[in-house]
Amino acid sequence: MAIPEIDKAHLPRHIAIIMDGNGRWAHQHGKSRAEGHEAGAKSVRAVVEACRELERVEALTLYAFSTENWRRSQGEIDTLFQLLSKYISLELDELHKEDIRVSVMGRMEGLGEQARRDLERCIALTDQNKSMLLNIAINYGGRAEIADAARSIAAEAARGALAVEDIDEACFARHLYVPDLPELDLLIRTSGEMRLSNFMLWQASYAEFVAMPTLWPDFRKEHLLEAIALYQSRHRRFGGR
Ligand code: FPP
Repeated sequence: MAIPEIDKAHLPRHIAIIMDGNGRWAHQHGKSRAEGHEAGAKSVRAVVEACRELERVEALTLYAFSTENWRRSQGEIDTLFQLLSKYISLELDELHKEDIRVSVMGRMEGLGEQARRDLERCIALTDQNKSMLLNIAINYGGRAEIADAARSIAAEAARGALAVEDIDEACFARHLYVPDLPELDLLIRTSGEMRLSNFMLWQASYAEFVAMPTLWPDFRKEHLLEAIALYQSRHRRFGGR
């Protein structure tokens, strides 16, 4: 694949990826689903590195585990969380060295002890980093996020800390899991699927959606650049003309 040409002065500030196709990749290669996810973790590394190299991508959000993924077999769930722990132990120092801040988007309280500890370690160590935000969506659902924001706004209003008239879009955005995320510009889904699957329902309002046929374990820098080139070819109107 030729390296796609992109305009480095007009990069998306925030890219989010629905990493899909690990299971199909494994099937195609005669491997187990666990091996598919393991290969997917290598793509995570490649894409974080590529975004960091581009320098002006401010945030990268990756959909690692949805609230619906609990329906998978216990064996597969365990594999996914073991991979997350392995990724953190292998990559955390490098992420920190690269000045990358890690945040987590999702219901942390629903995670196991080990995953929570690992993620909290990442958040604490990288808290002051500035070059890029790596936002990991885990135990995440877009509807759950909206419901949780509504609940916390209602609680503040009930104790008199917030006037009902002050509840507007900006106020709502401040109550989402990661309030300081830049506007989502580009949302990529791999493996050819065209669904949002409950991902970033609030944030995706004006994002450009790019569906790519590549299965996630095959996704590398050139695929990211291809998605960015497509994004740059679109004329964004934000509801205007
Ligand atoms: C979708 O493939 C992928 C996931 C549910 C999990 C994504 C997880 C990783 C890439 C592993 C590690 C993550 C991090 C952040 C280190 P699928 O199983 O739904 O594929 P299929 O639709 O082909 O079956």
